Amino acid sequence: MDRKLNLNRAETFSFINPWIRYFLFFFSFLFWVFSLLIIAIGVYAKVQKATDTVRDTFLVDPAVILIVVGVVMFFITFCGCIGALRENIRLLKTFSLSLTLVFLTQLAIAVLGFFYSDQTRDALGKFVKKAIVHYRDDLDLQNLMDYIQKEFKCCGWNNYTDWSWNLYFNCTLENPSTERCAVPYSCCEPIPGEVVINTMCGFGIQTQNYLEATKSIYPVGCADKAVTWIESHLLLVGGLALGLALPQIAGIVLSQILISQIQEEISSVL
Ligand SMILES: *[C@@H]1O[C@H](CO)[C@@H](O)[C@H](O)[C@H]1NC(C)=O
Ligand SMILES: *[C@@H]1O[C@H](CO)[C@@H](O)[C@H](O)[C@H]1NC(C)=O
Repeated sequence: MDRKLNLNRAETFSFINPWIRYFLFFFSFLFWVFSLLIIAIGVYAKVQKATDTVRDTFLVDPAVILIVVGVVMFFITFCGCIGALRENIRLLKTFSLSLTLVFLTQLAIAVLGFFYSDQTRDALGKFVKKAIVHYRDDLDLQNLMDYIQKEFKCCGWNNYTDWSWNLYFNCTLENPSTERCAVPYSCCEPIPGEVVINTMCGFGIQTQNYLEATKSIYPVGCADKAVTWIESHLLLVGGLALGLALPQIAGIVLSQILISQIQEEISSVL
């Protein structure tokens, strides 16, 4: 074909679909802003904690996890955003490749977590045990444990005697704590119509047998409650997983389409 004719055609006709290009741009931009928000929350949480017991409690500080996730997301979405705007193949390829890696990593974790559910349960148990041990040292951990026990209507990890892991609630005879053999108030099952809340309802619970104890506190450990919760909310769990996976798959597919359209465009004007 005549070269001049070809160039004229390139002015009016483009292989690049503007809808795909701008959708990818806005979509990446949205998550780019979101990543800045995650970084800000992580930094705020890190600065807030002057006495950093959480870092000693867990292998990695949750605030650091937030910052790392935010920074990774920042770079990936930045590549998608600028790559789509400038029609830059190298940035779009970086975007597509890193998003694929992130997606496959998440998929691997989900599949391993499913097939190694016993190990997953043990790992979670270690996490909760640390939260129980440091319940009185860190207000965030205290709030977290109280929230879990109240929301899921459970007490301890295996059962209520797990509270002996904590120095204050430990049920050995030598323990001088006033809360010896108690469980936190968040274990207590509210009595319907009760006017004055008995905040001491958890006292001495660990000395009682199962039948006695379950008259005033939630009888089931949080591990079993978590399993029941997941089993009865499979639709929600699946929906959340899909909500996490779909934007990633969309990003990978759209960037691949855009890359091939840009390549077609380039070869058509050559
Ligand atoms: C609580 O759980 C522990 C560990 O699984 C078990 O040894 C203990 O017998 C349980 N106690 C009650 C009262 O169920
Ligand atoms: C309670 O404290 C005693 C003495 O410090 C300790 O030996 C025991 O292991 C503790 N109980 C639990 C369940 O950690």
